Amino acid sequence: MSERELREEMVRYCRSLFERGFSVGTAGNVSARVADGFLMTPTNSCLGFLEPERISKLDKDWNHVGGDKPSKEVFLHRAFYETRPATGAVVHLHCTHCTALSCLADLDDADCVEPITPYVVMRVGKVARVPYVKPGDPRSGDLIRGLDGRHAAVLLANHGPVVAGKDLTSAVYASEELEETAKLLLMLRPFKTQRLTDTQVEELEAGYARQMR
Ligand code: 13P
Repeated sequence: MSERELREEMVRYCRSLFERGFSVGTAGNVSARVADGFLMTPTNSCLGFLEPERISKLDKDWNHVGGDKPSKEVFLHRAFYETRPATGAVVHLHCTHCTALSCLADLDDADCVEPITPYVVMRVGKVARVPYVKPGDPRSGDLIRGLDGRHAAVLLANHGPVVAGKDLTSAVYASEELEETAKLLLMLRPFKTQRLTDTQVEELEAGYARQMR
């Protein structure tokens, strides 16, 4: 796909996420790898109203070389590309249910999204929660690096999800799957819930764990 086509695809996916309520106002940011660097949504931009030519361009060393000023979450995105080399795109949202989950006091930080349905295992994998730092804090990158590339998806405590995928489509679909799973988990909180067994999870992972989603 050419850079021009990827810019247009980014505009389409971001608009779709915005129109379905996955992002409000100027919340959220998206990046994608291109041959000579990275594209990233501009800081303070609304995902619903991006313009292809204004999307930020960064070179391979993450210097800003074109378009509007990039998202302040550049450290966060960069850490995913550097610790998971097959990453082609990263999506960060403040979607309601993931963000609610990220605020819960009694969550297992090492495995914070229970595998209740197959698709969260297949598309998202095991999710870790990292401690709160303020938006745009360079330490967000250190927190992601501390996970050594083991997780494609992370919840930032009291903030929202970040999901890496092999390309933009995968990262967007995995973000949607994670949000729907978070919604189910919150709906099910008052009830005794049956999660998938370890054997069922292993069976699903066998087909997906070795490849980048
Ligand atoms: P930017 O507007 O800099 O992308 O930040 C939005 C955001 O989601 C912060 O977490």
